[in-house]
Amino acid sequence: MRVLRLSDMALSDIAFVNARLIDAKRDFAGSIEVRGGKIQKVARGAMPADGLKIVDLNGLALMPGFIDLHAHLRIPGQSHKEDFGHGLAAALIGGFTTVCGMANTAPAVDTAQAVAKNNKDANSLNLAGYIQISAIGQSLADRVLVDTKEIGKHTPLFSNDGINIDSSAFLKEALARSREEGFLILFHCEPESESIAKHLQELSECGGRMHFCHISRAQSLEIIQKAKNEGLNVTCETAPHYLYASENSYAVNPPIGTHADRLAVIGAARSGLIDAIATDHAPHTEEDKANGMNGISSFDYAFSLANTVFEENSISKSRLSEMLSACPAKLIGLNKGLLEPGMDADFSIVDFSAEYQINTNDFYSKSKNTPFAGEHVKGRTEMSIIGGNIRHERNRQAL
Ligand code: DOR
Ligand code: ZN
Repeated sequence: MRVLRLSDMALSDIAFVNARLIDAKRDFAGSIEVRGGKIQKVARGAMPADGLKIVDLNGLALMPGFIDLHAHLRIPGQSHKEDFGHGLAAALIGGFTTVCGMANTAPAVDTAQAVAKNNKDANSLNLAGYIQISAIGQSLADRVLVDTKEIGKHTPLFSNDGINIDSSAFLKEALARSREEGFLILFHCEPESESIAKHLQELSECGGRMHFCHISRAQSLEIIQKAKNEGLNVTCETAPHYLYASENSYAVNPPIGTHADRLAVIGAARSGLIDAIATDHAPHTEEDKANGMNGISSFDYAFSLANTVFEENSISKSRLSEMLSACPAKLIGLNKGLLEPGMDADFSIVDFSAEYQINTNDFYSKSKNTPFAGEHVKGRTEMSIIGGNIRHERNRQAL
C-alpha cells in the first residue's frame, strides 16, 4: 500500500534540484527556485540555493502542475458518487493541481452564489485547486441564459456539459455574451460531428470563444481543422480514454471510437489540432453503472494513460506538458502552466521510468468505474506541489 501524505507544510521558499525540467518550451536537466509561492529562477544544472529548503529529485521530471479543464465532482447533490475531499485528493495524486468542475450536478450550478460556494468549499480543503464551471443555461437547458455578468465574477468558464445545445437562438445569444464579456464556453456536442459543424457555423456568424469537449471522432477533427484553417476562435480537448482505447463498448459519452478514430485523435494530439487533454473524470457508483450511466473515473491514472500513448507514438514530453498545462492555463487565463519566473509554483513530479498496473483498490476517488483496471501503463505522478507547498507525495522517502 502506498504511503499517502496530504500535507500543507509551509515550505514555499524551496529549491527543487537535480530534476528533468519539462514544459511546453523546454526539456533539460536543471533546478528551480521558488520564493513566496512563485517561480523565482529556472536554471540548467545545479544552482546555489542559499537559505532555501532543498528537495533533491534524483532525476525525476518536474513539470508544471496539470490543469484539468473538465471533470465531474458531483457537488451538490451526488456525494455518493464523489465529493471534493475524495475527488480533489485523487486529482492531486494524479498530478492535477487545478481542476475545473462541470455544472451537471443536482441541482445544476447555475447561479453566482452556487459557483462561489463550491469554489470556497473546494479550495478550503487545500487539495487540488478548484474552479467551478457554471452552467450556461438555467438548469442546463438551452432556453434561458444564466446571469453571466454576475457569475463571471467567480468563474471564466461556462458549459452545459452532458446536454447538447440545440437551440440556435440560445447559442447565438450565448456566443454574443462570450464575445462581449470574454468568457469561454465549453461544448459537449451530440451527435458529435454534426453538432460541431452546426456550432462552428454559428461561431463564424457571432464570434465568441468556443471550446469543444472530449473530441473522439476523426470526422470531428476534420471539421475542426477546417475551422481553425479559416481562423475561427475555436479550441478543443480530448480525454485520455480516446487516446488510449478503441472498439470498446464501456458506457461513456461520447462512446469510445473505432481504431481509425483513435489514430486520428493521436495524430491531432501530435499536430496541435487538439489543444488540451482533460480527464472527463466522471465517477459513478457500481449501481449507477449497472443502470447504464455513462462515464469513467480517471483522476488517479489519467496522466499515465495519456503518457503511455505519447511514449508508444514518440510524441514529445513537451507536447504532453503543453496539452496538460500550458494550453489549459491559457484558456482559463491563469498565471500557471510554464516553468518561467513569476509563474505560480504548481508542479507535478513524475517518474517516467515507473510502470504499473492500474488497480481500482488504489483509487482515492469514491468511484472505481473504469474499463482500464489491469492495464499496464507507463509514467507515474510521484508528488504534487501547489504554490511551492508539497501537497502530496507518494513516497515519503523521496524527501
Ligand atoms: O460519460 C459522460 N459522463 N459524459 C458526459 O457528458 C457526462 C458525464 C457524467 O456526468 O457522468
Ligand atoms: Zn461531456
